[in-house]
Amino acid sequence: MSDVPVSDVDLFTHDARVDPYPIYEELRALGPVVHLSRYDLYALARYEQVRAALMDWRTFTSARGVFVDPALNAQLEGITLCSDPPDHTMMRAVLGRPLRQDRMRDVAPRIEAEADRVVSKLVDRGRFDAATELAEHLPMTVVSDLVGLPDQGRVQMLKWAAAIWDVQGPANERFTNAMPSVEEFLAFAVNDAVPGNIDPDGWAAHLYQAADRGELPREKCPVMMLDYVTPSLDTTILAITNAIALFAQHPEQWDRLRADRSLIPHAINESLRLESPVPQFSRVLTEDHEIDGVPLPAGSRVALLYGSANRDERHYPDPTRFDITRRPSDHLAFGRGEHVCVGMHLARLEITALLHRLADRVSRFEIVASTPMINNGLRGLEHLEVTVQTDETR
Ligand code: HEM
Repeated sequence: MSDVPVSDVDLFTHDARVDPYPIYEELRALGPVVHLSRYDLYALARYEQVRAALMDWRTFTSARGVFVDPALNAQLEGITLCSDPPDHTMMRAVLGRPLRQDRMRDVAPRIEAEADRVVSKLVDRGRFDAATELAEHLPMTVVSDLVGLPDQGRVQMLKWAAAIWDVQGPANERFTNAMPSVEEFLAFAVNDAVPGNIDPDGWAAHLYQAADRGELPREKCPVMMLDYVTPSLDTTILAITNAIALFAQHPEQWDRLRADRSLIPHAINESLRLESPVPQFSRVLTEDHEIDGVPLPAGSRVALLYGSANRDERHYPDPTRFDITRRPSDHLAFGRGEHVCVGMHLARLEITALLHRLADRVSRFEIVASTPMINNGLRGLEHLEVTVQTDETR
């Protein structure tokens, strides 16, 4: 073990959640794997090692949880995110059905119409919070409708989802404060979001229908609702907000996008690369394993730092530069391999719809004020007050 560099940095302090990038840089420089002594985690901070781990689920299992706290990892064992094939394959097949790329054709018209509505309203106003008024709109209207939870659940979704992200870190104060909301959501999923109370055409109901057909054990349905609620809201909200912030800071990139809309998919990848909303998950080694000549024992928990890998200078030249012509489609902000984000087509659809509508109207964004989101599992801006100029007002 003497070969493993050790660091006592804490990735979960307030300052590290606001700006983890200096720490990431330090960890990448220390070596391909670094022991984080505070949490007994082995961190992979470089692109090549994170990607290799994601592609090797037999060695890097998700079935022992992908979070930091041992008790939470034990509690959430068996959800889609925290499972391996063949269980994972069975759950993902059902869960992913409404999220497949070809199914996006059904939801696109609604998402585009809502994007049009919200952008027109906010741009006419000239000043708005790009996080709470713009970015929250599609996930909180269209996506929550598609999941089809009862009303008392829908108003709580954002609070519950953020709480579930908060308990993905170590058992710090944020974790403890979030626990009551997590318990509330789990009780709601088991007792209230059940057939009879949920929209019979929604995604949640589809889980129960699949269980009735024998495609899934019925007791998996309540926790699988977690898979729709937790990752579908803040992730996308942060991705949209981060993109607006980047375009406000780099107006020449916004001009480029407006001049050539075929750059939108690349702009989405580039903003996810540079400001990854999900900075890390973890895995556990199923056997003794060497990473770049560094031996690690079976049972080690290994943190995969997506947010750092996406800024690895070994992989992306001049990694801190925001350049929408870079085309970094191999970024790791959606993960890779077996657990690659099953909702990425939906997320891309939402972001694309908003960027198109904004590009139709807005010539410049100016940041008035911003507040970081402080959460153990997510990163980005909680508020981003902007003013916009349009071609008419310029
Ligand atoms: C920009 C927005 C999003 C980001 C950055 C994001 C990020 C991620 C990442 C990094 C993973 C990989 C987990 C791992 O490596 O263990 C993941 C998995 C997942 N995401 Fe997303 N996500 C986003 C949007 C969504 C949406 C809209 C949904 C919709 C329901 C969703 C549902 C899921 C689910 C269910 C998984 C688990 C997949 C599995 O374990 O097989 N995500 N996401």
